Amino acid sequence: MSVSPLIIAIDGPAASGKSTVAKRVAAALGIVFVNSGAMYRAFTWWVLQNGIDPHDLPAVLELLARTEFRCGEEDGVGTIAVGGVPMTRDELASTAVNAAVSPIAAIPEVRERLVAEQRCYGSARGVAMEGRDIGSVVFPETPYKFYIDASPEVREARRRAEGIDDSIAKRDRIDSSRKVSPLVVSGDALVVDSSHLTAEEVVAAVLAAIRERMGE
Ligand code: CDP
Repeated sequence: MSVSPLIIAIDGPAASGKSTVAKRVAAALGIVFVNSGAMYRAFTWWVLQNGIDPHDLPAVLELLARTEFRCGEEDGVGTIAVGGVPMTRDELASTAVNAAVSPIAAIPEVRERLVAEQRCYGSARGVAMEGRDIGSVVFPETPYKFYIDASPEVREARRRAEGIDDSIAKRDRIDSSRKVSPLVVSGDALVVDSSHLTAEEVVAAVLAAIRERMGE
């Protein structure tokens, strides 16, 4: 008898704490953690690395058409190589990538390619994937959807504490207003406001909701 893999969708705005939560939920359930934002960041880094202006649409599309993405898994964490280059945290979180990623992620053709890669994780041993459109577009059929929020002040402060130069208000504006797959709260998602909760408390709330929805 085949059992369908467990798919947990965790969406939310920048620096809402969804990465930490998705990582811990995946570890607790023995499934793979995937940060879909890392894929958009990886392609953005590749665009900049190739000397292409992120607003030059024809050039970005031409690069996309000849770029190979390789998604994998290492120790329970999704990995991505773009153009044969394995991505590390340093490249993905650079100031230049922070500034260019939202315009790149708003391009429909880019989303189409990366969503196809993201869905491949759904056929393996289960996944907790975080992003902006995981519950609304990538895995709309999963019953396990979460939206992790926090006030803009708390989110700005979290990014500053990480020492990262990131205009999250601007990214949120672009991510929420784009035509294709904007950041939205899926009607059937459980919304958790993490502004005044510890990571442990958010993880506990998410795990409890998953167990409840499983009927345990
Ligand atoms: O960590 P943080 O929440 O700041 O961002 P991220 O998850 O690394 O995502 C970086 C950017 O990728 C976002 O601002 C979006 O523009 C884009 N993104 C997206 O469009 N769809 C996703 N599923 C994930 C990220």
